Amino acid sequence: MNPDNILIKAENLHKTYRNATGGAERRVLAQLDLVIRKKEKVAIMGPSGSGKTTLLNLIGTLDIPDSGMIRFEGRSLSDLDTGQVLAFRNRTAGFVFQFHHLLPQCTLLENVLLPSIPNKGDRSAANHRAEDLLQFMGIWDQRHNKPAELSGGECQRAAVARALINQPKILLADEPTGSLDEENASLLMELLMGINEEMGVSLIVATHSPAIARRMDTVYRIEDGKLVHVTDME
Ligand SMILES: Nc1ncnc2c1ncn2[C@@H]1O[C@H](COP(=O)(O)OP(=O)(O)OP(=O)(O)O)[C@@H](O)[C@H]1O
Ligand SMILES: [Mg+2]
Repeated sequence: MNPDNILIKAENLHKTYRNATGGAERRVLAQLDLVIRKKEKVAIMGPSGSGKTTLLNLIGTLDIPDSGMIRFEGRSLSDLDTGQVLAFRNRTAGFVFQFHHLLPQCTLLENVLLPSIPNKGDRSAANHRAEDLLQFMGIWDQRHNKPAELSGGECQRAAVARALINQPKILLADEPTGSLDEENASLLMELLMGINEEMGVSLIVATHSPAIARRMDTVYRIEDGKLVHVTDME
């Protein structure tokens, strides 16, 4: 594979959780390798507790592995200083969770703009992008409403817009449709596919849904702390 096409390369990742008293240990990831190409859509499957969220957290620098290395565009995440880690979380990676985590006191537009506040420079560029994203996600008419006035599907679409405001290279989505009904889940998936296609953003989705996994380019299942390539999703 041409190294220029590789976005993320994780090698020999290990992650074990220990409880606070130093007692029981829970080995979650062990000798895990992963390569993600630019623009690739990847599903991470596996039973509850298999380590999907743990893996997404490591890739997103929300947690650190016990050992092993994650490279993003060739650069080891463990070499980033604190400021660079914050910039990575705010700009390079976008996060979407099962629940939208929008701020209840802010409108949708304000929520979408929030991650752009630390950026230096032109506010009008961020405002324009927020407008484009709200339109793309089909929630333009609701932009001045607060989350409590909107449906779960609309809020989740706003959360995706918020994750994209700083033009990330990768969207890390942890069961993004897990709190939605079938219709809203399918609409959100359509939008995520469009985002990948039109904005060139890589997508890693942790999901229990075979229907979602089938729409990704590559499907992995976590088994005994490692990724197994799933080839029989049809
Ligand atoms: N901060 C933590 N401290 C201790 N154990 C943890 C912690 N986070 C996760 N675990 C444990 O690690 C294992 C993997 O958790 P993880 O959340 O990654 O699983 P998951 O595949 O995302 O599951 P689900 O499908 O239910 O979301 C679980 O057994 C969990 O209890
Ligand atoms: Mg999880």
